[in-house]
Amino acid sequence: MKAFASDNYSGIHPEILEAISDANLSHAVSYGDDAITARANALFEHLFGPVKTLYTFNGTGANVVALKCAALPFQSVICTQFAHIHVDECGAPVQAVGCTLLPLPSPDGKLTPAMVQPLLSAKGNVHHNQPKVISISQSTELGTVYTLDEVRALCDFAHANDMYVHLDGARIANAVAALGTGLKEATVDCGVDIMSFGGTKNGLMIGEAVLIFNNELKQHADYYHKQSAQLFSKNRFIAAQFVALLSNDLWKRMALHANAMAQLLASEVSKIEGVTVTRPTDANGVFAIIPPEAIEPLQKQFRFYVWDESTLELRWMCSFDTTEEEVYGFVAVLKQLIAGLGNV
Ligand SMILES: Cc1ncc(COP(=O)(O)O)c(C=O)c1O
Repeated sequence: MKAFASDNYSGIHPEILEAISDANLSHAVSYGDDAITARANALFEHLFGPVKTLYTFNGTGANVVALKCAALPFQSVICTQFAHIHVDECGAPVQAVGCTLLPLPSPDGKLTPAMVQPLLSAKGNVHHNQPKVISISQSTELGTVYTLDEVRALCDFAHANDMYVHLDGARIANAVAALGTGLKEATVDCGVDIMSFGGTKNGLMIGEAVLIFNNELKQHADYYHKQSAQLFSKNRFIAAQFVALLSNDLWKRMALHANAMAQLLASEVSKIEGVTVTRPTDANGVFAIIPPEAIEPLQKQFRFYVWDESTLELRWMCSFDTTEEEVYGFVAVLKQLIAGLGNV
């Protein structure tokens, strides 16, 4: 199947698969007290500085654990209307944390301090949920990437108002590869308190990590992790994948490739009359509008989602294993379909 539906349609990178196989040679202590988990933890420390790392099965699990660490049931988490925690997690953070999500309209998938400011009037009023966390996705659900200054401004604003910043980094590798910075520079150095670090969308078979930078959020983290059913007894098999991902810049190589394929796709489809790329292609997602009659026939050959049913805006995601041939093949079919419409 040739798919541009999601970066989680992709397979497992061979080096990751090999790491799982290598971890399968002997018994090891369970629940993360093993040498491979210690190695993965050390690699996270090497890349981010002092950090408490917890491994989870999926991104929803990572977000739930992170938000449990950062918010209490009477508090609120501010995010965008497009945030995965708001629209794609079946209400898991609300159910698990008991908090309220406050989704804000956003033109580009990002938040700014000015957008958040009006919600702070609830602070100190016992009748209102208390704003406590600003949750941002990097890269965003709309394929855009916050600049370091934008992340820093939100973190400074949050801290000045006794709040925390959670970063949903399901695609942090793509964002950091696009920014051309280091992981630490783009997250903890900007003031991010806690983050979900994506693995599955960047070549892992299974696994994400919660990275806790702010000591205030570490206190109950182990218990929230276990209570959220995210503590894997055979954690070494998740950790082994992160060891491979974080070694030799594999995370960056894969993300750079996915981003490059998205750039190629965006530039090639832009040349087709009748196709409009609707958003900046900052990372590995391309958003576009094509003649509506071409959508279904195109979907018969390539899986992808209609992002917005009201505008028929489409989303095409590239991943570490998307090839140039697949991109050119997709573009050729799209061109042919649109040309065919003209002849009708
Ligand atoms: C922004 C974002 N966060 C988190 C996730 C993780 O989701 P899952 O629980 O399916 O791993 C995704 C996956 O689509 C995502 O796009």
